[in-house]
Amino acid sequence: MKIAFVVGTRPEFIKTVSLIKECEKRKINYFIIHTGQHYSYELDTLFFEELHIKKPEYNLNVGSSTHWEQTGKMMVGIERILVEERPDLVLVQGDTNTVLAGALSAKKLGIKVGHVEAGLRCYNIFMPEEINRRLTDHISDFLFCPTLTNRDNLIRENIDGKNIYVVGNTIVDVLYENLELSKKKGEKIMNEIGITPGNYFLVTAHRQENIDDKKTLINLLRGIENIQKKYDLPVIYPMHPRVHGSINKFSIKLLGNIKIIKPISYLESIYLQKYAKLILTDSGGIQEEACILGKPCVTLRENTERPETVDIGANVLAGTNPQKINDSVEKMLYAGTWKHPFGD
Ligand code: UD1
Repeated sequence: MKIAFVVGTRPEFIKTVSLIKECEKRKINYFIIHTGQHYSYELDTLFFEELHIKKPEYNLNVGSSTHWEQTGKMMVGIERILVEERPDLVLVQGDTNTVLAGALSAKKLGIKVGHVEAGLRCYNIFMPEEINRRLTDHISDFLFCPTLTNRDNLIRENIDGKNIYVVGNTIVDVLYENLELSKKKGEKIMNEIGITPGNYFLVTAHRQENIDDKKTLINLLRGIENIQKKYDLPVIYPMHPRVHGSINKFSIKLLGNIKIIKPISYLESIYLQKYAKLILTDSGGIQEEACILGKPCVTLRENTERPETVDIGANVLAGTNPQKINDSVEKMLYAGTWKHPFGD
């Protein structure tokens, strides 16, 4: 059997690593196609180095552009490689443009597609990720769902149950494997920033719908500034380049003790999550990691494709309204404990 992994963005590098390592262990023939959707050192090479992933056999270097230009360029490149390599299976993970491009290219060539993290739904069809995950699920031959909720979503959409496997989320493997290893880098970055365990809030936000709209972004940032002032604790915000772009474009000034740092590595990220007082995020992966780490999470979105985290009391949806962010943080600071739903 020959497997092609199609990856292109930071979360895919992280979440496929356990599958890649498993292929190596079982001596399964595989190769990696990197679309080049992410290319900055901090969003790309850093993860290959830190997680010891071999250099991809192919890199399409598509870079940033509009959704369809980017997705189109990926498909042209992926098709060429698949025609030559003829793998038995293409594996894609998650909901990015890279995922949709990989799945569509393979399917049209009659190559089987496996979707890892299938069946997630936030039911906001205006989100690019929701479009990508729906389309990918409906053309996949193997649907690997993290939870039973995800399976139910697919069944409701008339996807054949015999193609669905509930397998947990690969982030659990990656997180457990790296938590111990994160100590050295984690302590170093905490010293550099000047923070101590339990005495800071961690923020990550980079979603198109939060960042590209001026009013929404200002609301989100004011909400975070209020939390910083109210609890008199620093807020650590590792910033995706997309957010820098918007802050400059809209000439927004950040007030208070908000420490903007460059995007961090995976080991730094899990360490800072583990010791944060609370996490505020619009990232899907961080909602999962916070939940697995037992850390209260406030999600800066109106909806989530990870409702399991909300149902068990690990997460609350705040959106970007400053008052709602305030109330959600207040509530989650008194959150209890829970057993995470993402498998072992
Ligand atoms: C993409 C995914 C999102 C995922 C995120 C992980 C889609 C539709 N979105 O969002 O689901 O959560 O990756 O980080 O696939 N940029 C750089 N360097 C890079 C990559 C991007 O500076 O290496 C900047 C560029 O200005 C670019 C912008 O970030 O225009 C957005 O990049 P893009 O890949 O289009 O989307 P993300 O916001 O990263």
